[in-house]
Amino acid sequence: MSINRTQVDVESLVDVRNGIQAKKIFWDQEIYDLEIEQIFGKCWQFLTHDSLIPNPGDFTTGFMAEDEVFVMRQDDGSVKAFLNVCSHRGARLVAAEAGNARAFSCPYHGWSYSMDGALKVVPMEKELYRGALDKSQFGLREIRVESYRGLYYGNLDPQAPSLSDYLGDVKFYLDIWMEVNGGIELVGPPSRSLLNCNWKTPAENFVGDAYHVGWTHVASLMALGGELSSIGGMEAPPNEGLGMQVTSRFGHGFGVLWDTAPAVHAIGSDAGKLYREWFASRRPKMVEKLGAQVGRIYGSHLNGTIFPNNSYLLGTNSFKLWVPRGPHQIEVFTWTIVEKEMPSELKNAIVTGMNSTFGTAGMLESDDSDNMESMTQNNRGRATREGKLNSQLGLGFDKLDSVFPGVIGQSAIGETSYRGFYRAYKEILGADNWQTILDLDPDAWKRELTGQ
Ligand code: FES
Ligand SMILES: [Fe+2]
Repeated sequence: MSINRTQVDVESLVDVRNGIQAKKIFWDQEIYDLEIEQIFGKCWQFLTHDSLIPNPGDFTTGFMAEDEVFVMRQDDGSVKAFLNVCSHRGARLVAAEAGNARAFSCPYHGWSYSMDGALKVVPMEKELYRGALDKSQFGLREIRVESYRGLYYGNLDPQAPSLSDYLGDVKFYLDIWMEVNGGIELVGPPSRSLLNCNWKTPAENFVGDAYHVGWTHVASLMALGGELSSIGGMEAPPNEGLGMQVTSRFGHGFGVLWDTAPAVHAIGSDAGKLYREWFASRRPKMVEKLGAQVGRIYGSHLNGTIFPNNSYLLGTNSFKLWVPRGPHQIEVFTWTIVEKEMPSELKNAIVTGMNSTFGTAGMLESDDSDNMESMTQNNRGRATREGKLNSQLGLGFDKLDSVFPGVIGQSAIGETSYRGFYRAYKEILGADNWQTILDLDPDAWKRELTGQ
């Protein structure tokens, strides 16, 4: 049990039934320290995708919160992940962002490790250690890794549920986009940028904020044209039929905007033209396979977050990791997500379209970044951070559905998945361990959110 658990009154941070959170969750160091231990120490975090490490020896480096890690394809095709730190004096072992190697030598004193993390070579071992070093005890620290549709996630907690159980209800929806012929792939290397915001500000925005789209992004939507430009300026409330929101037991959630998948790939651009043709040819097959109601998800726009810090836009083709760098800063990693069977001409056009919208200097990314930073930085004021955050949009109208799993918000413009995100946030932040969470009634979270 850490000191932090006694310093933070977790119960006071989130009022699930009333859709309220304490503003200091975006600021306080004690809360951040507890998140690192309880959330990033226990939850699955995105590492890499099959397409980025296709061959034995291929590796990528990255982060699980503030822990540096690397992920490597083994000779037998399996994937292992390790803390990226030498077992001798703790220097960073792998400096490259990606590459192919058979072994790694530490830049400090030259200790060398094989692909599976074993310590193999210690310079002048015989002469200097004279048999006193037990190399078998000083391999790299291996991290638990599991994959879903080629996406690899790591977990620092051996007690955590499987990745599949952790993803739970959202797999139903992700499969509609990812279980396509050939599957999906990520195009790397990721672009990287720093934002002076708390990691939860973009995570909550992506999990379920269609409300801001017509306002924050009005200029961008008007410039791009396309399916979403009609809500630019928020002059009229959208029809109830605009879309829906979904949330799930461990906080993963998303919003759906019906029939708008290519919306931010400009109508006049190569990406926009080719992508609209792609959906016109593929969607009818999905409807045939899944039925009209479920098949409609493919070709609709999804904005989502896999709790805690992995977000995606399906349609816009952005795949994000918000890596915390203290309570007031993140490093953003952005990949482009495409379908493997897309012709290279379309993939290239989508990469260009994604980068001009949600890449580091993308027009919509820039719109959002200002909000993320101000939501964080204005908590510098002592009185300000004692305040509350409101996520009551759609409260009282969340329901269960016979076709769609999870708790469903009936309008795309709602805060259902915010409430689900912070319900899970509180539960995981305050739990002794995973078992205490898994021992709860598996439907209790639904009653908590729907009030039924
Ligand atoms: S710190 Fe790596 S070899 Fe010494
Ligand atoms: Fe946005």
